Amino acid sequence: GPDTKIVLLLFSAGPLNVTFADESARVSAILECFFPGQGTGEALVNVLFNKDSNSSPAGRLPMTWPKFAWQVPSMVNYSMAGRTYRYLNTDPLYPFGYGLSYTRFNYTRMMVKTVHNATKDLDLDLTLQNIGPVDADEVIQCYVEPKYRQPYPAPRRALAYFGRIHIQAGLYRTLWITLSKQAWSVWKDGQWTYITLPSVPQVGTQPWALLNPPSSGIQPNCRSDQGTVLLSVESGGFLID
Ligand SMILES: *[C@@H]1O[C@H](CO)[C@@H](O)[C@H](O)[C@H]1NC(C)=O
Ligand SMILES: *[C@@H]1O[C@H](CO)[C@@H](O)[C@H](O)[C@H]1NC(C)=O
Ligand SMILES: *[C@@H]1O[C@H](CO)[C@@H](O)[C@H](O)[C@H]1NC(C)=O
Repeated sequence: GPDTKIVLLLFSAGPLNVTFADESARVSAILECFFPGQGTGEALVNVLFNKDSNSSPAGRLPMTWPKFAWQVPSMVNYSMAGRTYRYLNTDPLYPFGYGLSYTRFNYTRMMVKTVHNATKDLDLDLTLQNIGPVDADEVIQCYVEPKYRQPYPAPRRALAYFGRIHIQAGLYRTLWITLSKQAWSVWKDGQWTYITLPSVPQVGTQPWALLNPPSSGIQPNCRSDQGTVLLSVESGGFLID
């Protein structure tokens, strides 16, 4: 009938044009399955019916999923301009790191030193609460975005950390994360050079919303048109000294 829910299962090596499904009110979910193995049927049933406390979807896209063909740079041009989430400057259909869940997580209380010696790793901690109805895994992603790109040809943003954690519905955990000093360095003249300019570490579920980050929030629905979820260091950003 017209109210029947449709779940689109994609078995593909990478992005396909699924804008029609994304925009359709009748398609209530899209599951990218890639090319799974012999346990596929059972795994899909577990996920679609949320069979047990480990069944909530918690995969994250390992690539940028473009919205238009023109967003994909020519294969014979080896320039990084517009290529991958690190250099993309348009809105994709789904960003690198994107993925939904049956629950929601609230990221709060990110604590980080505001001045940091660029030659050292950086520790930060934050609190993560499962505020939805379902036990689930969350994939914490931390991106670093140099506030100034010149004079270094640095990426717009880069994934500096990711980790997976299981949190039961209603519970919260405090996490300690270490960002490698390589997160704010660029490969220049044959060596890693530390960017001694302000950088902004931000934690959440995707890089895209860094363009307009609020101070705290909910993940994981993280496309730029759906608001976001990121914690960032307030007031003056974060100085890499
Ligand atoms: C490759 O792409 C870059 C960035 O868009 C552009 O400046 C350059 O002209 C292109 N090179 C060729 C050979 O098309
Ligand atoms: C997230 O946690 C903060 C701090 O406890 C709280 O103020 C905020 O209301 C929470 N957000 C939601 C949606 O629960
Ligand atoms: C940063 O650490 C390096 C290595 O320990 C040290 O040589 C340098 O003096 C430190 N810089 C500052 C500004 O403290």
